[in-house]
Amino acid sequence: MTDELLRWRSEFPALEKSVYMVSHSLGAMPRRTYEYLREYADLWVNKGINAWGDWLPEVDRAAQRIGRIIGAPDGTMVMATNVSQIQALIASCLEYTPARNKVVYSNLNFPTVSYVWQAERRRGADVVVVPSDDGIAVSTERMLEAIDERTLIVPISHVLFRSSAIKDVAAIVARAHAVGAMVLLDCYQSTGTVPFDVAKLNVDFACGGSVKWLCGGPGAAYLYVRPDRIRQFAPRTTGWFGHEKPFAFTMPEQKYADGIWRFMAGTPAVVALYQARAGVEVIAEIGVERIRAKSLRQTARIFELCDAAGYRVNTPRKPEQRGGTVCFDFDQAERVAKTLNATGFLCDHRPQSGIRVSPHFYTTDEEVERFMAEVARLEKSA
Ligand SMILES: Cc1ncc(COP(=O)(O)O)c(C=O)c1O
Repeated sequence: MTDELLRWRSEFPALEKSVYMVSHSLGAMPRRTYEYLREYADLWVNKGINAWGDWLPEVDRAAQRIGRIIGAPDGTMVMATNVSQIQALIASCLEYTPARNKVVYSNLNFPTVSYVWQAERRRGADVVVVPSDDGIAVSTERMLEAIDERTLIVPISHVLFRSSAIKDVAAIVARAHAVGAMVLLDCYQSTGTVPFDVAKLNVDFACGGSVKWLCGGPGAAYLYVRPDRIRQFAPRTTGWFGHEKPFAFTMPEQKYADGIWRFMAGTPAVVALYQARAGVEVIAEIGVERIRAKSLRQTARIFELCDAAGYRVNTPRKPEQRGGTVCFDFDQAERVAKTLNATGFLCDHRPQSGIRVSPHFYTTDEEVERFMAEVARLEKSA
């Protein structure tokens, strides 16, 4: 069977230098990124201040490109710099009242999300962190029980960074909406590797960034807001690009834009949008369905190799319950991961996860075998 996705390998120079199994953390850089960064710089050098005429529309274009991958209609997505900032932006939209002040999430969220919501306790939030029994997944039942009539928002991860477990977003959304709460979905670890549709999931907000599976490097994060929610909020974290007429320079108060730009704050980091363009284009061209089919096949093979070697697997086994990463552990795994990285077998190690390994559309079957053989060799000699 020929693997058509390998056609894109030549677009990723890093693949010639390493066995690239770390796309859950930093996706490989596309060759075209050089061109787009040059385009950005050429605009600046040639047009000076007039470069903004090209740069500013890039904010919407970047948002639309990612929006098409996650099912967000045009006009519902806006770009920011990182997910932490977006979580704080959404928090700044909310008022906590005695009747509704609960924030519910699990202890397997990415920590940055927790830090933002814990800080909201100073403003009156009652923050409930639902524990996981095994550090791999969080019981949906337990999440549903914690979401009640006092719940304001449920900031959850779609695919958990620590185990790659997929959350039952539909069940959580249904429960949240039934009691009048909102859901903020962090889809960082699913966008570009697990197909989903924010509109179909009916989440109130969604966010993620371009660093990982989208192969876009740091600085280009995205926020989706459900169309009917856009005008309901006036974020306290704001700035002149969120104004209905930024260049009217009116004082003293914010007059929020009608559309999604009301969620913008200050000057956008345009260079990151040029940097992120190539990766998003490639993912869109291939289609996430095809990426997922390949990922399920290669990760299934990694499970087999882990089992054969006797490693503790910290990722759910059922395909529908896991994303694109396999996490496995053994004594000395951290040391082995360091050696792997130093010798061009790129992966990472996280506390309670073990070694995290992620084939992506550009990974060959032979690389999967070679990577796992190297893990086994180092584990035996550790
Ligand atoms: C699920 C998830 N959310 C958020 C982040 C990062 O947040 P930020 O964009 O604020 O660095 C990561 C990884 O770095 C992640 O895996």
